[in-house]
Amino acid sequence: MKLLIKLLIVIVSFLGIIDASFLSYEKLTGHIPPCTVGFQCDTVLTSKWSILFGVPLPLYGLAFYGFTFVIAVLHFLEIDHISIDAKRKLHTADLQLILAMFGICFSLYLVSIMGLVLHAWCLYCLLSALCCLTLFVLNVMQWHMQKKICVCSASSPKTVIFSWLYAHIAKPLFFMIDAEVVHIAMTRVGAFLGRFALSQQLTRWMFFYGDKQLATKVDGIVFPNPVGLAAGFDYEGRLGSILPSVGFGFHTIGTVTYRSYEGNEPPRLGRFPDSKALLVNKGFKSEGAPAIIDRLKGKKFAIPTGISIGSTNAVYATLNDQIDDIVKCFKLFEASTVKHAYYELNISCPNTQGGQPFTTPQRLNALLTKLKNLHIKRPVYIKMPIDLSQKETNSLLQIASAYSFIKGVIFGNLTKDHSNPDVAKHDRDRWNQVKGNLSGKPTWNRSNALIAFTKKKYGKRFTIIGTGGIFTPEDAQTKLELGADLVQLITGMIYEGPQLIGEINRHFSKVAGNNLKK
Ligand SMILES: Cc1cc2nc3c(=O)[nH]c(=O)nc-3n(C[C@H](O)[C@H](O)[C@H](O)COP(=O)(O)O)c2cc1C
Repeated sequence: MKLLIKLLIVIVSFLGIIDASFLSYEKLTGHIPPCTVGFQCDTVLTSKWSILFGVPLPLYGLAFYGFTFVIAVLHFLEIDHISIDAKRKLHTADLQLILAMFGICFSLYLVSIMGLVLHAWCLYCLLSALCCLTLFVLNVMQWHMQKKICVCSASSPKTVIFSWLYAHIAKPLFFMIDAEVVHIAMTRVGAFLGRFALSQQLTRWMFFYGDKQLATKVDGIVFPNPVGLAAGFDYEGRLGSILPSVGFGFHTIGTVTYRSYEGNEPPRLGRFPDSKALLVNKGFKSEGAPAIIDRLKGKKFAIPTGISIGSTNAVYATLNDQIDDIVKCFKLFEASTVKHAYYELNISCPNTQGGQPFTTPQRLNALLTKLKNLHIKRPVYIKMPIDLSQKETNSLLQIASAYSFIKGVIFGNLTKDHSNPDVAKHDRDRWNQVKGNLSGKPTWNRSNALIAFTKKKYGKRFTIIGTGGIFTPEDAQTKLELGADLVQLITGMIYEGPQLIGEINRHFSKVAGNNLKK
């Protein structure tokens, strides 16, 4: 099949050469080629639109098909790349797809000119448009089969296109700009798109994958699918209207703190691409609970939405003061009209400057004792650290299991362990010179080990949310198989693109859906 597609691309680009050569010859010799009844080749070929920058359009077509043909032949002969220099090479399959996309866009433009401006059709130009369309479809099929980009067994051609566009256009562009600037800009774009039904629908068309079978009931909450946006991306609660269209099944806002904090000194975000990680040094940047509640109160959420709460980044005189800060934040949300479905209790933020994390049994117990008095009705999930040993983690789980309002745990937060073997060597050197902690692949193994341990030791006592290093549908499936009930991600979406969410759901729908709680 692969060989047949390669061959068809060669043949169709050759047909394009014949068509464009004939038109070029006729144009240059001043003839109008014979035209069947119903077509108006002369109107089109003698119009001002048939010349671009002084050059007849058929010549552009000839160059385009000629180049496409050469690349297609190289690809057919299994020459999979052309070296530009010692380090850089162009993959022939990539080049083909770029050319095909360019061809389809230009064809669309020319067909619109014929239909909308000239109201006349040229048979040979339509043949060329058909060649471009065929080349485009064949190239997408080729990409789909080669699985060159974040693809699973069930990728749709639309997703393949968006994966490709993200990997080759959007991501290189984003990665040239400061990470926090991109984050802020994307949040604004997302908030804007969420304001209108039309842009919501367009986003849905681009990314969404839905299947009723993916619905899962956890702690009394019905999640339309098990894939959530983890805490830290929408820390101000601005994206609730667009995330369902992207395909998320739930979403956590925050971490929100009782008082506002402008964040650590920049840079607050960075990228470690070789380790497939992000460097996070926000230190609980938050507008503060009252401002967030003001934004969210009375709003309807289309998917279950949680609030992640942590202690304000400040210096506290005593442990009780720090606990009091968290308790006040919970109280504000409990008393508000915000329609959130659950809480995350962030005990593990590794980059705050003042208060200590609640990652010792004594401190956690003191915090949970106070929270218990609030009689919180919604489920509370503890966001766990991932750098503790199994024994240390177990001692925290034992404390948590004694409190019935703690329904589950999330594994886990960022890694702050500079000896983490999943960080690339030169990234480690860079990391040693900057503040912050890592998300993404360096959290993958540890998160998985702790999910598996907790499931084995505590069975159904805890709902488990698997977070950390999900970059493909198969990664998400692994977390479910190890014992997670739901999964969350951020970094995978930033590295692979927003179509990843639909991809995971499509995969679950086809392969892994049986693991879901009903
Ligand atoms: C930019 C960024 C900000 C984050 N901020 C928070 C936060 O405020 N609260 C929290 O509980 N986790 C936060 N996290 C951790 C994520 O929720 C998640 O646990 C971690 O990134 C691992 O998942 P990932 O590999 O899919 O990103 C943040 C992560 C990133 C990348």
